[in-house]
Parts: sequence; C-alpha cells; structure tokens
Amino acid sequence: MNRRYLIGVVLAAGTALWFGLGQGSLPEGPGRELVLQKCQTCHELGFVTRERQPRERWDAIITEMQSYGLRLTSEERATILNYLATHFAPGAQAPTPAPQPQANVSGAQVYNNCIGCHQANGSGVPGVFPPLAGHVPSILATRGGREWLIQVMLYGLQGPINVRGSSYNGAMPAYPQLSDAEIAAVLNHISTQWGNGFPSGQGPFTEAEVRAQRGKNLSPQQVLSARQGLGLR
Ligand code: HEC
Ligand code: HEC
Repeated sequence: MNRRYLIGVVLAAGTALWFGLGQGSLPEGPGRELVLQKCQTCHELGFVTRERQPRERWDAIITEMQSYGLRLTSEERATILNYLATHFAPGAQAPTPAPQPQANVSGAQVYNNCIGCHQANGSGVPGVFPPLAGHVPSILATRGGREWLIQVMLYGLQGPINVRGSSYNGAMPAYPQLSDAEIAAVLNHISTQWGNGFPSGQGPFTEAEVRAQRGKNLSPQQVLSARQGLGLR
C-alpha cells in the first residue's frame, strides 16, 4: 500500500495547486516559456496573471522589474512584452482551467485493503473482525452514522464493541492516506454489497463529505466514544 506522510500529501497538494494556478493560467503562445522561467523567481506568477494592462504599461512594468534585478536580453524582453501585451491586455479573459481528470475510483479495488480482516464476503471473523455484511446499514441508519463511518476510515477505531451479538476488542487501522474519492468509494462499496443498501433517503457518499471530516485529528479511542453516542445496539 502506498503510505505517505500527511505532510507529504499536504505539500504535494499545495504544489499541485500552485502549479495549477500558476502555469495553468498562462495561455499558450510564443513567450510563455520565458515568462515561466523569468517571472516567478521573485514572486508568484499570480502577480503577472491578475494584471490586464496595455502594451505601454507592460513595457513600464518590465522596466521596473529590471530595476529590481530581472536580467533579460533585448530579444527576450521583446518576446515577453509581446506575450504579455497579447494575452494580458485590458479585457482579456482568464484562460479556462485545464479540465481535471474525472475521479474514477473503484470501491471494490479499495476494498482489497480490507479483505484480510473483514473478508471478501464482508462476514468478518466472529470475535476478531466485525462483519460489514448485514451491519453497515444499521450504522448508516443512526443519527450521525454517515459521518462516523468516515471518521472510522480516517482515524481508526479501538476498544470494546458489540456487533450482532458478538463482542470485539481489536483495532481498526486508520486510512488517512486514501484520497477523499477513495474513501467515498470504499464506503459506497460496503454500503451496497452483500445485500447491504442505503437507508431510504440516503445517497452515495461524496468526496465533499469525506473532506469535511479531515483535519479533526481524532484518536481511535475518541472514535470509539463517538460510536457509543450513535446508540447502536
Ligand atoms: C528580480 C526580482 C523580480 C523578477 C525577476 C520579476 N519581478 Fe515582478 N516584482 C518584483 C518586485 C520586488 C515587485 C514589487 C512587489 C510589491 O510591490 O510588493 C514586483 C511586482 C510585480 C507586479 C505588480 C505590479 C507592480 O508594478 O508592482 C507585476 C505585474 C510584476 N511584478 C510583473 C513581473 C513580470 C511580468 C516579470 C517577468 C518579466 C517579473 N515581474 C519578474 C520583482 C521581480
Ligand atoms: C487489520 C484488520 C483490519 C483491516 C485491514 C480493516 N479493518 Fe475495519 N475493523 C477492524 C477491527 C478489529 C474493527 C473493530 C475495532 C474494535 O474492536 O474497536 C473494525 C471496524 C470496522 C468498522 C466499524 C464497525 C463497527 O460496528 O464499529 C468499519 C465500518 C470497518 N472496520 C470498515 C473497514 C474498511 C472499509 C476497511 C478497509 C478500508 C477496513 N475496515 C480494514 C479490523 C480491520
């Protein structure tokens, strides 16, 4: 399994966002590479892309940047000026962001992480790993059950519980390294397999619901106390 440290994920996401906002907002055209290379060494590209200026003003801005220490040959200067005057003229539209790849995650595939304990048929192992088959719908039906299931995925669960007449006292590992889409997908999987189904009025888990439960830093014991609050029998 691909385990990453949270900090790595945050940095990677931040970098992706930064590149997404920066590079994605520069339209194609001669001079684009030069702007990428020369205009984000001292500040973000956003300083450039938010401006809409006539050619004379861009000319003056480049001169100002040269006074700050920007080094350009006269040829590079002319290319950059043409690029900015063309694509960042008054009234120019912000370029449409590149379409994001559609999240296409299979819950069955993510469930491969769970099979070792909860079993392919969701029956679990009596007294050791609780069943998900015939059980997840009763969690969904409680008040707060949906949010709580997401918390089990993100933060784990540890301590004594009772499921369908058997007691368990194990530890469910946390899966913070799974993406929001992956967690939503696996929860949708266990909510609809083996005869399970969503209670009437409930739809599939969404990435936004998962995102809303991140950053709470719950301990597995806190997730256990939250379980007691659900009133599961
Ligand atoms: C050597 C450092 C440096 C480089 C390289 C640089 N800038 Fe700047 N830029 C600055 C500084 C310093 C400011 C002023 C920041 C502030 O006022 O807070 C600035 C501000 C700006 C602003 C805001 C408006 C203004 O006049 O203050 C624009 C637009 C801008 N830069 C465009 C560019 C473009 C286009 C390039 C590439 C051709 C570029 N910069 C490269 C240092 C640089
Ligand atoms: C290493 C074994 C293990 C793995 C892997 C595992 N679980 Fe668990 N899971 C458990 C144990 C043990 C519990 C009960 C914890 C306790 O006793 O407090 C549990 C509890 C749960 C519960 C809560 C049941 C309840 O009534 O409280 C859900 C939901 C769940 N697991 C889903 C999953 C899903 C989905 C995956 C895969 C992403 C998964 N588990 C992976 C061992 C595991």
